[in-house]
Amino acid sequence: MNNLSILQSFPKDFIFGVATSAYQIEGNNFGECGKSIWDEFAKQNLNGVDGSYACNHIQYFKDDIKLIKDAGFKAYRFSFSWPRIFPNDDNSINTKGLDFYDRLLDEILECNLEPFPTLYHWDLPIRFNQLGGWENKDTCKRFADYSYTISEKLGDKFQKIATINEPWCVSWLSHYLGEHAPGKKSLSSATATMHNILLAHGLAVQALRSNRNHQIGVVLNNEYPEPYSQDTKDIEAAKLFDSIYNYWFADSIFKGSYPKIAMELLSSHLPSNYESDLKIISQGLDWVGINYYTRSIIKYYKSDDGINYECVRGNLKKTDMDWEFFPEGLTYFLRRINNEYNSKIPIYITENGMANRDLVSSKNKVFDEDRIEYFQLHLIEVLKCLNEGIPLKGYFAWSLLDNYEWSFGYEKRFGLVHVNYKNYKRTPKESFKQFSKYL
Ligand code: FCB
Repeated sequence: MNNLSILQSFPKDFIFGVATSAYQIEGNNFGECGKSIWDEFAKQNLNGVDGSYACNHIQYFKDDIKLIKDAGFKAYRFSFSWPRIFPNDDNSINTKGLDFYDRLLDEILECNLEPFPTLYHWDLPIRFNQLGGWENKDTCKRFADYSYTISEKLGDKFQKIATINEPWCVSWLSHYLGEHAPGKKSLSSATATMHNILLAHGLAVQALRSNRNHQIGVVLNNEYPEPYSQDTKDIEAAKLFDSIYNYWFADSIFKGSYPKIAMELLSSHLPSNYESDLKIISQGLDWVGINYYTRSIIKYYKSDDGINYECVRGNLKKTDMDWEFFPEGLTYFLRRINNEYNSKIPIYITENGMANRDLVSSKNKVFDEDRIEYFQLHLIEVLKCLNEGIPLKGYFAWSLLDNYEWSFGYEKRFGLVHVNYKNYKRTPKESFKQFSKYL
């Protein structure tokens, strides 16, 4: 029988929370929010299926926070929307936007939850598109200014804050693979953004610290690189994947350098003075967030630009994203961050969860057995790492609600709580009930 009784084996001070992000839940048609690169991308590539209404969290946020509290979670990870706060330009604040986050934070605090805000979860204001988006270094400076404003106006209501969510997605997935906004497919664009998004992180750390003594982190996604075979070519391909996907971001942030294997292909696309930026990028952090979902099976594949690999389908049990269940990968990365970088830095698992074809019964029940199993398997790994002495401090399930899953629109459901997109009704799923029972 699947259940989450494992939750009871965790130490009392270990924090369980849920995560969301602004564009995926808020509904940017409300509250004079500005448009972002995702609205444009959705118009061009997704038949206009965008975050205009999403879960209408703007209207239902109090109910949503109450759900988190009632389940027994202790923390809530969410993101601020840059275009909601600065919809038109970099100077005129939308007071409605700021006021929304003010009320949201008050509600979180009143419910005795710890807020874990993120400054950037992919909704770059659309005006930056014409200026080159993240390919333009100036965007990094504007991001630092926006970060400062957040700290100045709202910073007395939270201690912990993350700069960037998943820099690999912002850069490689969006500028090399073209799967996310702005949908580019260019190695030079990807490399420029792989650097600039890290610089934006570093400048934001400086800006935040110049205003207040925050506890600052960054959220990195990691995917386990499994070679397709023991053939040297596949093994080398997996190393290249690992270098670009995982090492690039962790090495620069924790060691102030870029990994050699990726550099062989990417260095010529980096800005000439990139090394001086690495000092800004590698400033000490107070904590790190790890998002983990699955592994990738990497096969050698000859490509003109030297990115000689492709990801192929594996044969393990899969989620509705077709992502394999591979909980061992989580242990692998938690150990790796701890061993290879900084054995003292507090680690939070800031996202983990699965998309599932939930069974909605007529009696207002939503069955998601597989999701319960997925959480159970990953929590076993987390507990293993805790027992090894890795300074793990918390775990956030992705996600509180079914929501806008980027280029998959509303089809993929990751929530612990089911959302009916016609009337915004929330129905806690069985997985949610399991969390509440054992928390
Ligand atoms: C992560 C994103 C999050 C969500 C999950 C499924 O990469 O941070 O917004 O889309 O994947």
